[in-house]
Amino acid sequence: MCGIVGYIGCRQAASVLLDGLSRLEYRGYDSAGMAVRSGGSDVVVVKAKGRLKALSDKTDAGRMLEGTCGIGHTRWATHGEPSELNAHPHISDDCAVVGVHNGIIENYQELKEKLLKKGYAFNSQTDTEVAVKLVDYYYKKDAAADPVKALSRAMVRIRGSYALALMFKDYPEEIFAARKDSPMIIGVEKGETYIASDVPAILKYTRNVYYIGNMEIARLQQGTATFYNLDKEEIDKELVEITWNAEAAEKAGFEHFMMKEIHEQPKAVRDTLNSVLKDGLLDLSSVGLTESEIGRISQIYIVACGSAYHAGVVGQYVIEKLARVSVRVELASEFRYRDPILDPDGLVIVISQSGETADTLAALREAKQRGIKTLAIVNVVGSSIAREADKIFYTLAGPEIAVATTKAYSAQLIACYAIAVEFGRCRQTVSDVDYKRYLEELAVLPTKINKIIEDKERLQWFAAKHANAKDIFFIGRGIDYAVCLEGSLKLKEISYIHSEAYAAGELKHGTISLIEDGTLVVSVLTQPELYEKTLSNLVEVKSRGAYCMGLTTVGNYKIEDTAEFVTYIPQIEPCFAASLAVVPLQLLSYYISLARGLDVDKPRNLAKSVTVE
Ligand code: AGP
Ligand code: GLU
Repeated sequence: MCGIVGYIGCRQAASVLLDGLSRLEYRGYDSAGMAVRSGGSDVVVVKAKGRLKALSDKTDAGRMLEGTCGIGHTRWATHGEPSELNAHPHISDDCAVVGVHNGIIENYQELKEKLLKKGYAFNSQTDTEVAVKLVDYYYKKDAAADPVKALSRAMVRIRGSYALALMFKDYPEEIFAARKDSPMIIGVEKGETYIASDVPAILKYTRNVYYIGNMEIARLQQGTATFYNLDKEEIDKELVEITWNAEAAEKAGFEHFMMKEIHEQPKAVRDTLNSVLKDGLLDLSSVGLTESEIGRISQIYIVACGSAYHAGVVGQYVIEKLARVSVRVELASEFRYRDPILDPDGLVIVISQSGETADTLAALREAKQRGIKTLAIVNVVGSSIAREADKIFYTLAGPEIAVATTKAYSAQLIACYAIAVEFGRCRQTVSDVDYKRYLEELAVLPTKINKIIEDKERLQWFAAKHANAKDIFFIGRGIDYAVCLEGSLKLKEISYIHSEAYAAGELKHGTISLIEDGTLVVSVLTQPELYEKTLSNLVEVKSRGAYCMGLTTVGNYKIEDTAEFVTYIPQIEPCFAASLAVVPLQLLSYYISLARGLDVDKPRNLAKSVTVE
């Protein structure tokens, strides 16, 4: 799931690898390693448990490793504990093949047994070592000793997901790569070639990138890349120019990426909205949806994971309300295995920041296989989901580095609103007057988000007071409940405080027994018709000792009789209130994490892009 960087060129490879890996640190990892070789000499492998700094210290910032060709890796352990032994690269016994891998080899046990019978021995507990040795086996089995052939034979045998980068002893100054369902890109410049699991790793060196497709193989030499399909036939590939700047993936003066990305929300929202506006009106033709098609959609299924799923929950409320089309929202990991009954005239909308989430990708494929139309709301251009969906609605949030998503989530909300309003117009469930009003409300969202961010110090003060809380509860109804889901996840992810999001009316069906003297309960009340109801629920928990925080719209001052601390958001059309209400909750989590001295951008055990199921 984590990082791969490879380099062939004229510079010292190790420093390029360390630099590239450091730009992938946000993806989360537990150990790191690299393999470097100089011309035809033997490869040198160095590994270290823990942060990249340990690897850097071990190699004197890479200076100890000579050579202009190498592969580097940050590992997020799936098979075998995080340890130096299990860290990548893994190497065949006679050093003929050395490789790094992101992903999971599902049938590694079966392949391992086969290789054991053939006389192979294993030093680690990883599935990766099996993959490397399988390639080695096919490489030696064939007199031609052809890496592309060996890789294609191994790929036919391997089940699971992988981005593999390998060096072969007989092929100095070359790297071979293969991929299935794990991200990987290849960059080329004059006399230099790069490989990486994400663009920021190599953006400093090149903007010219190839996207290696699923089940494809690449042969990298100085300044060139050749691509092959499984049949070992050469395939043509288009070189894509990356247009965003390296600074977009830098902290720009903020202490953490998360805070920078919170501040980038107004822009992410504005850019995403503008991408579907033409002459001041919504136009989804760039997404690939025509008016008559929209009119015929009988049912919408929104499928996603984590925060993207939470954006989908908001989407469900808003689309159903404005477009009067039935929406079912589901976790991708559930959808893919439940043999869903899908209406042939329905539309499956998958939502993903990375475009690489394994379960979401699998759900998309499942839907496509059943012949139902698919639309992806996705942030990363050229990602697997973007390439495979029938229609794409790009969120223009720019690169998101912090593991805890903020600006991508906000951009996903806008995409859902645009769909809701435009579907409503096409299906005549939104009047001309309301259509105009909704567009005006959407247009002012960025300014209102900004206003909330400007007031962040109050939340910092409150967060510092509650940094040692053991449990925090979030309650709300309707769209507010959807916001609670996201607020609670944000908090858990980066502060490691246990928290739960509850539909406010549901608390008394069991969970209220957990409320003790001083338990912090955060209530979200932005929906006018539900305000009184949720307020009553707040009174219920207060009577049981809870310490109450309210998050509501300016003007709802009655809440101050119950809540000890209140944060107000500007007035907004209630359908779009999630975009404002989520911001104080993001800030609250951020400041609690900060007060607890935790690693805000790279929380423990988590990875930015979850490419395993
Ligand atoms: C959000 O803060 C999380 N890190 C996580 O839940 C994330 O939203 C989820 O893994 C889905 O990722 P995606 O949007 O890249 O598909
Ligand atoms: N499954 C491999 C391992 O556990 C690769 C993990 C990764 O993607 O970092 O070593």
